[in-house]
Amino acid sequence: MAVVLVTGGAGYVGSHACKALAAAGYRPVVYDNLGTGHRDLVRWGPLEEGDLLDADRLDAVLAAYKPQAVLHFAALSVVGDSVREPERYQRNNVEGSLALIAAMERHGVGRIIFSSTAAVYGVPANLPITEDTPKAPINPYGQTKLAIEQALAASNLAWTALRYFNAAGADPEGEVGEHHAPESHLIPIVLHVALGLRPSISIFGNDYDTPDGTCVRDYIHVSDLADAHVRALRRLEGGGGSRAFNLGTGQGTSVQQIVDLVRATTGHAIPVERAPRRAGDPPLLVCSNAAAQEALGWRPLRDAATQVADAWRWHRTRFGA
Ligand code: UFG
Repeated sequence: MAVVLVTGGAGYVGSHACKALAAAGYRPVVYDNLGTGHRDLVRWGPLEEGDLLDADRLDAVLAAYKPQAVLHFAALSVVGDSVREPERYQRNNVEGSLALIAAMERHGVGRIIFSSTAAVYGVPANLPITEDTPKAPINPYGQTKLAIEQALAASNLAWTALRYFNAAGADPEGEVGEHHAPESHLIPIVLHVALGLRPSISIFGNDYDTPDGTCVRDYIHVSDLADAHVRALRRLEGGGGSRAFNLGTGQGTSVQQIVDLVRATTGHAIPVERAPRRAGDPPLLVCSNAAAQEALGWRPLRDAATQVADAWRWHRTRFGA
């Protein structure tokens, strides 16, 4: 059975990717320092605890399992933290990835699928965002992800960078889901309000130049993201060239619409507070996923309502009373 090393496989998107890899006949081996990941999200193969910056440990794991490819999720990913602690993001994300690339080259592992982000585009001049939209990240998090893409392009590896828009939802079968502590993402926060774990949701800005005045994002189901990773891996195995793909639905959903969806799904009143705009928030982010559709045969199957419904089932089981 083909082994795939999954860095960050104990995290949110990584754990869903492990499930998809196993379903597709691969053996996912998770390499994770458990800094933000969770041991109990590793369910489809072994967990090897370790840090990307620990070259001896990484060498030992690569030598033991001889993976035929790497899915690379391990990263710090909180935009606000990256503004406060840019050196930590540089070291963990960029230097960690450089160490991974060097280790792969040492061990002759030639293929990597990299977890990138819409944050590489910053505030785009035109919508929808295509892969050719200029890269102009506005925070250190996005800068680290762009730097890693550039390092991959300069390496000898066959690579694919998957630029996620807003990852959301949870495994439809409820086996894994989202668990960040502290939580900063919109949908889980609104679900925490539904569960009574928070009194209200603050909407950051309601005077944007958008249909209802609140920010619009392109939410993409985490299981659709996982599926895209397997397809991207198969494409590289088939000799496909190195490149980046946007992963989103191409549909925008506003903060207010998310709150309304959570009200409809959970039956709970969600008290809302108006709050000032959050620094660095682009008003509108929606992608074109035409390239992924064409080259990967990928179709996002789950809309925002399904994302909220799946996330709600997971949150209720995991965090409910
Ligand atoms: N929001 C609120 N209240 C909250 C939390 C969020 O109104 O309590 C709003 C934000 O202002 C934003 C939207 O909900 O308009 C979504 O916010 P998230 O924090 O959930 O997600 P972001 O769009 O800020 O960030 C996401 C990914 C990042 C990635 C970025 C790319 O989480 O990793 O997209 O722009 F960098």
